[in-house]
Amino acid sequence: MKRLSPSVLLCCSSLLAVAFACGDSSSSSNSGGAGGGGTTNSGGGGTSNDGGGGNGNGGTVNNGGGGGEAGSQPSGGNGGAGGAGAAGGAGGSGGCAPTFAPADPPGLLSQTGLYDGNGDIASVVRPYTPQFALWSDSAEKSRWAYIPECSQIDTTDMDVWEVPVGTRLWKQFSRDGNKLETRYIIRTGPGDFDFKFATYHWTTQTDAVMVNNGVLDANGTTHDIPAVSSCSICHRKSWRVLGFSALQLSHSLEGETIASLSAEGLLSVPLPGGLAMPGPSEGHAALGYMHANCSNCHNENGVGNIDMDLKIREGQTALEDTGAFQTAINVSTTMYQCNGSPCDRIEPGNASASAIIHRTTDPNGTPVAPNVTMPPLAVETMDVTGVATLTAWINSL
Ligand code: HEC
Ligand code: HEC
Repeated sequence: MKRLSPSVLLCCSSLLAVAFACGDSSSSSNSGGAGGGGTTNSGGGGTSNDGGGGNGNGGTVNNGGGGGEAGSQPSGGNGGAGGAGAAGGAGGSGGCAPTFAPADPPGLLSQTGLYDGNGDIASVVRPYTPQFALWSDSAEKSRWAYIPECSQIDTTDMDVWEVPVGTRLWKQFSRDGNKLETRYIIRTGPGDFDFKFATYHWTTQTDAVMVNNGVLDANGTTHDIPAVSSCSICHRKSWRVLGFSALQLSHSLEGETIASLSAEGLLSVPLPGGLAMPGPSEGHAALGYMHANCSNCHNENGVGNIDMDLKIREGQTALEDTGAFQTAINVSTTMYQCNGSPCDRIEPGNASASAIIHRTTDPNGTPVAPNVTMPPLAVETMDVTGVATLTAWINSL
């Protein structure tokens, strides 16, 4: 039985339609740009200047000094012209043209670059795991990132990494070892809207096909594939890439970490030590849970006229520094009422009177009341462990 109606999957429930700008078009608005000059040794032409219609990762810079023309376009790209090397350019490291050019999502997952010719994960694609996962009805998830060669992630704002044009990210959902869905994000240009979303349904276990309008109960499981129009409800303009981030990679789990990315020179501002969680360690799991599961909507930009901010940021060291403390603990709800009465979002020491627990707890078994459960989409079953973590923390406050 589904709690989500297809209309929610299509991003048109009245609640969501009011609260969100449903399905932004993510339209690409490249203006033709000249490729950058080859003054640096990081690939010269145009990694940040997108050629009209295409994205000119200008590619290989001449080896050696003297700043020559930035050179060849990556295969498949309609690259902007590589800039003529500025006088005295330092010369390039050469040979580091991006393996993949930015391109619209193709029809098959196997065409997105995730795999090499043998069906193994391509060597330029980096597996990673966020330290705090988004609850997805207990589906198993794998994630990978491709950062174009010769480019860096702009980490000037440690809380919102700007991934370079051409970056590709995948997140795969499986159950009992059977692949169900692989989601895909590609950055096609430098603008806020220059991200394309796609998702692929594993109709067989050999390849997955693009689906735009969602699939209920994929392959006979309870897993629903969301409509592509709903991706940007969570992957919002202000914060497109959610889990490949400073906080989420500040760990020593398998795969890429903020330390490994720093060591490879992939971050414009390296931070090998990572971001620390604020406050006493007993609260970290709960704060991290809300960061991963709630703050993509409940952040500084607000959602649905709710000024609740559950995002963890660089520089927060004490619990008092957090949005959770400032906008939830001892802060009354704006709209929601607990069993018909006003309540605090978080009442210290009293989880059962706290709106955050009311709205994540399933009072009578599945389904949780429609339009009450948080998050309002992509969840069908209560996250028992996650809610227990939140409950224990609130009761300890
Ligand atoms: C309910 C909110 C929500 C919706 C809807 C959603 N995502 Fe995400 N997505 C997240 C969160 C949170 C993360 C990071 C945590 C994680 O990976 O578990 C994430 C991670 C990802 C990643 C890995 C890169 C990253 O941003 O961390 C990809 C790729 C992705 N989502 C694609 C999609 C696509 C494509 C759609 C639409 C078909 C979609 N998502 C819909 C919340 C959502
Ligand atoms: C996909 C976006 C989205 C996500 C993710 C999300 N929420 Fe919400 N939340 C909303 C919207 C929209 C509202 C306002 C409308 C309403 O109350 O239903 C809201 C309202 C609330 C309120 C009522 C606040 C008030 O002052 O009235 C609480 C409490 C809440 N959310 C908790 C959570 C928790 C806890 C999580 C994570 C487990 C979460 N939300 C995740 C969109 C979201």
